[in-house]
Amino acid sequence: MQATVTSNENIFGSYFHLEVAAKGIGRKAGPGTFYMLKVASGTDPLLRRPISLHRVVSDDAVRFLYKSVGRGTNILGRLVPGDSLDIIGPLGNGFKVGKSVKLAMLVAGGIGVAPLLGLAEHIMKTRTDVTVVAFIGGRSEEDLLAIQEFRELGVRMYLCTEDGSLARCGIVTDTIEEYIKRYAPSGTKGWEMFSCGPKGMLRGVDAIASMHKIKHHASLEANMACGVGACMGCVVSILDRKAGVPVYKKVCDDGPVFDAEDVVW
Ligand SMILES: Cc1cc2nc3c(=O)[nH]c(=O)nc-3n(C[C@H](O)[C@H](O)[C@H](O)COP(=O)(O)OP(=O)(O)OC[C@H]3O[C@@H](n4cnc5c(N)ncnc54)[C@H](O)[C@@H]3O)c2cc1C
Ligand code: FES
Repeated sequence: MQATVTSNENIFGSYFHLEVAAKGIGRKAGPGTFYMLKVASGTDPLLRRPISLHRVVSDDAVRFLYKSVGRGTNILGRLVPGDSLDIIGPLGNGFKVGKSVKLAMLVAGGIGVAPLLGLAEHIMKTRTDVTVVAFIGGRSEEDLLAIQEFRELGVRMYLCTEDGSLARCGIVTDTIEEYIKRYAPSGTKGWEMFSCGPKGMLRGVDAIASMHKIKHHASLEANMACGVGACMGCVVSILDRKAGVPVYKKVCDDGPVFDAEDVVW
């Protein structure tokens, strides 16, 4: 679909908020789904770039949070209101919050926070029986993103930076362990984790989740060429429980969210 850029704001350093409008673009968008953005109108670069839904603004508008890291996202950073953007989506399975969830632990590393704000918003709107807590980590103060938005939603946050420039000095798994130590003695029934961030962080979070028998939904990243299940460029190894062996699954089509217990890290 052709969307129109309504704003593209450099919020800090290499981080941007991009808002686009197109009829129905936000209607089917669930938390954790993503869009494939064609950053230039010609063939260079040829491939679309996957960017997660950050927030549904309305049925006809969505917001992205992205980090400019290379050629494609640098071009995105130059878009101005009124520009046209070719978009496919929403794509992927997104996060599913089961009926038995009582505590949703959102775990983000750096730009991995992008899909988790939308998840927090979705839970707060639709599930008054669920408490949301967010564990957000980044290298430095400038990498702690969407803090104000989480605060406005009333989500309790546990923040940390690797260099200690803001909040606790350390990594996000430290804050989760402390939280569990403090609150888990009364049980982890109904607790589930929803994470997005670098692979090393996801693996660490998963080790904690398994140790405490907390179900963990991890949103994975992979380089994507098509985004719609056609090229097999984004496969990851996932355990097939019935067969007891790992099989290839497509991050774009079967994911990006997987039961972390089954991911072959
Ligand atoms: C499902 C999904 C959702 C995503 N959501 C977001 C989001 O909401 N916001 C955001 O900023 N980014 C997101 N990403 C990552 C984003 O797609 C990449 O950063 C982007 O494609 C890089 O394109 P580029 O041309 O700017 O960089 P390139 O020039 O292609 O690469 C620059 C550097 O970034 C690395 N890189 C490229 N693609 C990826 C990737 N998919 N994952 C990790 N590293 C990569 C390269 O290895 C290289 O080091 C998401 C990725 C996936 C798979
Ligand atoms: S990106 Fe082509 S199959 Fe996933």
